Amino acid sequence: MKYAHITGWGKFVPQRVMTNDDVAQLVETSDGWIRERTGIGARHVAGVADSTASMSINAAINALDIAGVAGNQLDLIIVATATPEHAFPSTACIVQDALGADRAGAFDLSAACSGFVYGMSLAADAIKAGSAQNVLVIGAETLSRVVNWKDRNTCVLFGDGAGAVVMQASDQPGGVLSTLLRSDGSGGDLLILPAGGSKMPVTHEAIDQHLNTIQMNGREVFRFATRVMDRAAREVMHKAGWTADQVDVFVPHQANMRIIESASKSLGIPLEKFYCNIEYYGNTSAASIPIALTEAAESGRLRPNDRVVTVGFGAGLTWAAAALQWSQPRPPSRSRKTLSRVGYGIAGMRSRAKRVLRRFEDRVFGTLDPTLRPPAPGRNGKSSNGNGKYAPAPTPMPTQVPSLPIPDRDASALESGKQPQPVDEKLD
Ligand code: ACO
Repeated sequence: MKYAHITGWGKFVPQRVMTNDDVAQLVETSDGWIRERTGIGARHVAGVADSTASMSINAAINALDIAGVAGNQLDLIIVATATPEHAFPSTACIVQDALGADRAGAFDLSAACSGFVYGMSLAADAIKAGSAQNVLVIGAETLSRVVNWKDRNTCVLFGDGAGAVVMQASDQPGGVLSTLLRSDGSGGDLLILPAGGSKMPVTHEAIDQHLNTIQMNGREVFRFATRVMDRAAREVMHKAGWTADQVDVFVPHQANMRIIESASKSLGIPLEKFYCNIEYYGNTSAASIPIALTEAAESGRLRPNDRVVTVGFGAGLTWAAAALQWSQPRPPSRSRKTLSRVGYGIAGMRSRAKRVLRRFEDRVFGTLDPTLRPPAPGRNGKSSNGNGKYAPAPTPMPTQVPSLPIPDRDASALESGKQPQPVDEKLD
């Protein structure tokens, strides 16, 4: 039987720190209110050079160093994020390219603040099933770019950053022992980024109404969070065969200190057992648990064989928990680290070379459709456009969304006022 151990961890947060007093320059709030209601004292905010991918790569490099795993040994890369670099390509593919992980599958995972625990659970399942040996799981967010800095209900809460873990297959018992994934889409409107998807593109109108920024019903989210933190932690401990007093460290999603205090009370577990760093980072969504795990490991709060429970909750609504036994990191090796740096340098050069080669291919071969190939050169050796170069006609940019063609039968049904038949009725 295979076990999925966490063998490496790393974090990255942007350099710029925004204190509560800084936020109070933007909206009507105060350090006292934010601290009392949330426990947040400051948050890191992305600078121009920071993005979800750049922070993910930095956190990943640290985690790979600790695990002693090279990029090209990875089988799978999962980036949990609600603020990906683009809709596509995935942030995970950008990470894959930077790490030279040329044997790895890579995808982004959308489960908001629960995303990292979802990712850990999928990675553990892939390892236990034998389909992956080495998996990189990242939680990363650049929430400062989707926050309305004029809305005091939300802008005081969030921060940017990334955390990563390397998970590896082992025959030794330990690692991720049980997980739980849950969702309730009926609460989707409680925490939502309405514009920017297929339902509502970002238009001037959407921007005017701030629909391209986080909208939240704070009180309802708070109620939901206090309910599920307790239930999810109990269920995952039960699955692992642990009682609450056997757990050494709880690493909850860092959304609000009052939510963590409420979980501590209802679980009957002293607050000292909860690892909390919300004061310094705010709510970094999918990044909050891996950042906290990394800090707890770096500070010696997490020791080998410690029993750990993590619980995440967030938009969707989603929630997830994991019970895991902390693993022993490999002894650090300087030469291994240097070798990795050389490897990432080579990966960067190889990526650039591939791009150049693709551009070259495109110039030489042009389109793959033979009917669109440039006309054969005439007798004088020149192509018929007279300059010897293939110059495709410029494609006009659509100025508005083209309407989709409706199949004839449906169109006639609509014209005659009849409703189109559902597909299964047609099959009958
Ligand atoms: N500064 C000063 N006053 C404020 C602020 C602020 N930043 N924000 C709200 N207020 C005011 C409100 O306007 C309200 O005033 P009113 O009574 O005159 O209307 C008053 O403070 C109380 O507002 P509440 O919403 O009741 O405040 P509450 O104690 O519930 O705290 C908070 C609000 C901090 C947002 C809390 O509800 C919370 O943490 N909810 C959970 C949010 C969360 O965890 N979200 C992330 C989920 S994870 C993810 O997926 C990203």
